[in-house]
Amino acid sequence: MEQFVRSEIAAMAGYIPGEQPQDGEYIKLNTNENPYPASDAIRAAVDAVLSRGLQKYPDAMGWAFRRQAGKVLGVPPEWILCGNGSDDILTILTRTFVGPNELLRLPTPSYILYRSLAELQGAAAEEVAFTSDWRLPPAFYAPRTAAPHADRPVKLAFLPNPNSPTGTFVPVAEMAELVERMPCPLVIDEAYADFVESPAHTATATNCIGLVKHSEKVIVSRTLSKSYALAGLRFGFCVAQPHVIEQLIKVKDSYNCDALSIAIATAAIGDQAWLVENRRKILATRQKLTDGMRRLGFQVIDSQANFTWNTHPTTSAKTLYEQLKARKILVRYMKYAGFGEGLRISVGTDAQIERLLDEMSKLVA
Ligand SMILES: Cc1ncc(COP(=O)(O)O)c(C=O)c1O
Repeated sequence: MEQFVRSEIAAMAGYIPGEQPQDGEYIKLNTNENPYPASDAIRAAVDAVLSRGLQKYPDAMGWAFRRQAGKVLGVPPEWILCGNGSDDILTILTRTFVGPNELLRLPTPSYILYRSLAELQGAAAEEVAFTSDWRLPPAFYAPRTAAPHADRPVKLAFLPNPNSPTGTFVPVAEMAELVERMPCPLVIDEAYADFVESPAHTATATNCIGLVKHSEKVIVSRTLSKSYALAGLRFGFCVAQPHVIEQLIKVKDSYNCDALSIAIATAAIGDQAWLVENRRKILATRQKLTDGMRRLGFQVIDSQANFTWNTHPTTSAKTLYEQLKARKILVRYMKYAGFGEGLRISVGTDAQIERLLDEMSKLVA
């Protein structure tokens, strides 16, 4: 069979998602899920779909969601495309813009999936390291690419903001300047944008949706997996100018979102009071996690997301990950070339974080 498999597929390792044990035995702090149940509004949405039945295909464009999200975000519905999780949106974007032998640009360390998406296209990924203060260096917006990819056309760039695994955030004013300089479309992956806090007593923007209105080169990607507590649903979307959305529609699966997920996502994004209260709890616990880990001697980067990046000066992150796992606590061990290794820990409930800190205190004592 191998002779029939495309050489790019045979050569690639494939993206490995975080562990998802299904037995409920673990305190799960490894894949940035929300520890609280989603808005109660989703129950009525499920009932309504089931009473209509599932024998018909869903609305291929998810208009109910586009209208509701458009109201919440202040954009016309035609500027929104729904996806089967934001991973689906990132896949559609890569397939739309990046062809074989072309180049996808991304910062490092960042979301590991991006590289796999480039490889699937037979394209190359150019990784540009963040500066030491978590900004983008000129190489990120350079029109020409450096060795070993010199002269390959850069067709698309991904930038998670806040970034994963660091939780760092490039301010919106800087993003506006970056967009002007980019030689290609820029996907701002705002999977964690709902957890950003504007500096005290300011009304500074905490996301880049406003930039889409000024530039056709900006595409903002969002997910309901994190801030709406719906990782099990699989629903994401992007916001871009309507002529860009028109191109993406050609690439997506005809029915990439099912009737239940469209209805649930519409109800969830419609309940902004739930979002505000959930965000308040997550941000309070994030501070407790950060302070607690620092007290135990870890270096913790200030996070604007629902996780923190933790390194210890003497104890190996891999060992800590394994010891925590043996105690039924899952965190994410990660290692990046040129950046090093550490633990990415999702913000759980207060009780989960207290238990984590308690176990951790025995391991690094
Ligand atoms: C930066 C980033 N983008 C996108 C995703 C994917 O989210 P979804 O569940 O919507 O596919 C993740 C998931 O962890 C992520 O960290």
